[in-house]
Amino acid sequence: MTRKHDMPETHGTPAEGVPGAATHAEGHTGGHGERRTGQYQWWQRGIVYQVYPRSFQDSNGDGIGDLPGIITRLDHLRWLGVDAVWISPIYPSPMADFGYDVSDYTDIHPIFGTLDDFDRLIAEAHGRQLRVILDFVPNHSSDQHPWFLESSASRDNPKRDWYIWRDPGPDGGPPNNWLSNFGGPGWTFHEPTGQYYYHAFLPEQPDLNWRNEEVVQAMLDALRFWLDRGVDGFRVDVIWHLIKDDEFRDNPLNPDWEPGHNPFHAVIPVQTSDRPEVHEVIARIRRLVDEYSERVLIGEIYLPVERLVSYYGVELTGVHLPFNFQLINAPWNAEQIGAMIHDYEKALPEEGWPNWVLGNHDQHRIASRIGSAQARVAAMMLLTLRGTPTLYYGDEIGMRDVEIPVHRIRDPLEINIPGIGLGRDPERTPMQWSGVSNAGFTTGDPWLPVAEDYPEINVDTEKHEHGSILALYRALINLRQGEPALEIGRIELIPATGDLLMYTRSARIGEAGFLIALNLHDSEETRMMPAGATGVILLSTHLDREDLPVTEQITLRPNEGVIIRLDDAPPAGPRDSFFQEL
Ligand code: NOJ
Repeated sequence: MTRKHDMPETHGTPAEGVPGAATHAEGHTGGHGERRTGQYQWWQRGIVYQVYPRSFQDSNGDGIGDLPGIITRLDHLRWLGVDAVWISPIYPSPMADFGYDVSDYTDIHPIFGTLDDFDRLIAEAHGRQLRVILDFVPNHSSDQHPWFLESSASRDNPKRDWYIWRDPGPDGGPPNNWLSNFGGPGWTFHEPTGQYYYHAFLPEQPDLNWRNEEVVQAMLDALRFWLDRGVDGFRVDVIWHLIKDDEFRDNPLNPDWEPGHNPFHAVIPVQTSDRPEVHEVIARIRRLVDEYSERVLIGEIYLPVERLVSYYGVELTGVHLPFNFQLINAPWNAEQIGAMIHDYEKALPEEGWPNWVLGNHDQHRIASRIGSAQARVAAMMLLTLRGTPTLYYGDEIGMRDVEIPVHRIRDPLEINIPGIGLGRDPERTPMQWSGVSNAGFTTGDPWLPVAEDYPEINVDTEKHEHGSILALYRALINLRQGEPALEIGRIELIPATGDLLMYTRSARIGEAGFLIALNLHDSEETRMMPAGATGVILLSTHLDREDLPVTEQITLRPNEGVIIRLDDAPPAGPRDSFFQEL
């Protein structure tokens, strides 16, 4: 059985005065990510699995997944070997953006169940050594949240300043050129009070004013509510958006934008996101979370790597894991991915822990982006790179985007900006559990269509197929969890040539570790083993060669990746003859 990380016996008890240090490994990162001393937290060693709750498992036949449904599938997660489950929003919500429009931060939407179901979920997950991470949506609430109802009641309502209200511009139109990510202006006029309010997403998602101390306190209280109930951390929605320019200056126009492209990119959002002051409010969230032991903060941040790493915060007072989405838009070739890994590792602050993501509920599925054969190579990459991996539900069985007939489109983004591939329904379709009707997801009408390929692509079938991608994921997770070199070890890149990406992982300098070789193309590739290294293939993405010795050279079949256990430590000497300088 896969080894699991130690779980505390009790949850929900604030640790006494646990400082930030309690959540970091002690010690020092020697170059290449080696730590000389200290311990690692569960979220450094562990693997996160994202559940989109509407689509995971329905228990009551309404066609929408729910908490009791998730509970019945915890054994799958346990069997797969992941360590934590992040659940997209389950709070009360009018569902204008499927839960990312929260109308009560401290309750559960009846579609998903009750607080009792939630407590049961925590207990059942913890009983299986699984952590639970909630999605926290602090940038905006629903327009149906009582706070917004009060705020919009009158200009002198005590909660007026909880949201971002402005007078019309000189022409009577919006106060400035800020745009909504979901199409159109970022401002909506509120007739009864004669002012505009700002919303980075839908008009039904007004932005909260994080410059208002009462808002900060109310949000910290909401976090406390869930921390006290035993959640192990939060994934924080659009955390880099929390603070906007207090002078409300226009965003500069984007000279590279062309009509027909995503209209949001017509401006460069420097005044509406990634403002310097955002780090102060994140530090406050972090301080609260640090009052509890062993909790994690993960930030959703889409920024270039040099900006992304600032979200670790000064002296790691930011989020533990600023989501690293680089593999999502990466051109799928060895040189560029190699350069990306290199630049990311170099940019990380000392002690900043890396992480990697292949997909989520906002991105087309990996198997559709790069094809089913390369999705296996990507799985090996995700689970052998240095840093915490996050898996998106269904990727472990190779689920693909589902084409959604027009009459079944649900995503407001596709409805508002149709036809240019922004819609997110295709990657949110029901989990494929088995070959029975609706793939075992529901006995009712599923809220989004079930993929037609479910009779072949499903958990039950793949569990019994030796070469399935599910078997590969499980083998990779199992291997990773038994090997400190893979879980927490250092990484060294071998300069990429052609379509082969190669790197080594070792527990510490001078120790033999693993060579990972990934063929990112569909033709055979042969290379000399670097610097005369020899070893044994432990795992191939094809799941058909194991314990095979490798000397001198290695031949990878089309779309194959392998993990080789090296016989000896990599040679000492001029590092860059063998490794790329990190
Ligand atoms: C990011 C979430 O991942 C996405 O699904 C949502 O639509 C926006 N934030 C707005 O909350």
